[in-house]
Amino acid sequence: MWTLKKERQLNEQTLSMRLERVVAHVPAGARLADIGSDHGYLPVALMRRGAIAAAVAGEVALTPFRSAERTVRANGLDPRITVRLANGLAAIEPGDGITAISICGMGGETIRDILDSGKAHLRGQERLILQPNGGEQPLRQWLMENGYRILCEEVLRENRFDYEIIVAERAGPVMYTAEELYFGPLQMQARSPAFLVKWQRMLRHKQQTLTHFARARQAVPEEKVRDVARQARWITELLA
Ligand SMILES: C[S@@+](CC[C@H](N)C(=O)[O-])C[C@H]1O[C@@H](n2cnc3c(N)ncnc32)[C@H](O)[C@@H]1O
Repeated sequence: MWTLKKERQLNEQTLSMRLERVVAHVPAGARLADIGSDHGYLPVALMRRGAIAAAVAGEVALTPFRSAERTVRANGLDPRITVRLANGLAAIEPGDGITAISICGMGGETIRDILDSGKAHLRGQERLILQPNGGEQPLRQWLMENGYRILCEEVLRENRFDYEIIVAERAGPVMYTAEELYFGPLQMQARSPAFLVKWQRMLRHKQQTLTHFARARQAVPEEKVRDVARQARWITELLA
């Protein structure tokens, strides 16, 4: 009940801790494109604080698009924040001079697909501030394959969910190992308490999955079992 009440109070003035951590990675004075902006809280909060110079809020769905328009108008920011109904990076126009792109609150695969299908809209100088809900590995894989170096990573827990934030810039070729793509190259080194707790939880989950596989009436494909067993081994090694 308390959580629900607190959730409802979140708006462009009081962001969730998750979005506050995203805010911390947006460079001062940026021209931000927030893709999948929903209610538009992130760009509006940044502009209200004088932290960015301009923003585009992109939304593919009509209801959140209208919601973002309302938030922008209610804060008198319509000249400085442009709300566009568009799929992914198609919200960005050449004249916007975008220097940072945030894509938050979606699966890592969805964020990857948005980046991949919108490559033509990237100039290559934009800082990417990504907040995937799961699917971090395929997203990091895309970043590596497209010349993006991971500059900063963090894990945080809010409302019983683990969230990750990945900040990247295109900085020439970079090679990450399979384990680094899985855990995050910087997080593996920093080993923050939130990161370790997340992977302790994940290990329990993988072990439970392996137990279910072993007890399953119908044989689980060998490849699937091997994949989960490999993940459990990597996590055990990480936590050792
Ligand atoms: C869960 S909300 C996250 C909202 C906000 N970014 C946040 O982190 O709080 C995801 C939003 O992304 C939008 N979205 C999903 N795919 C999109 C795409 N390809 N292009 C633009 N918006 C998209 C959805 O319509 C939805 O409003």
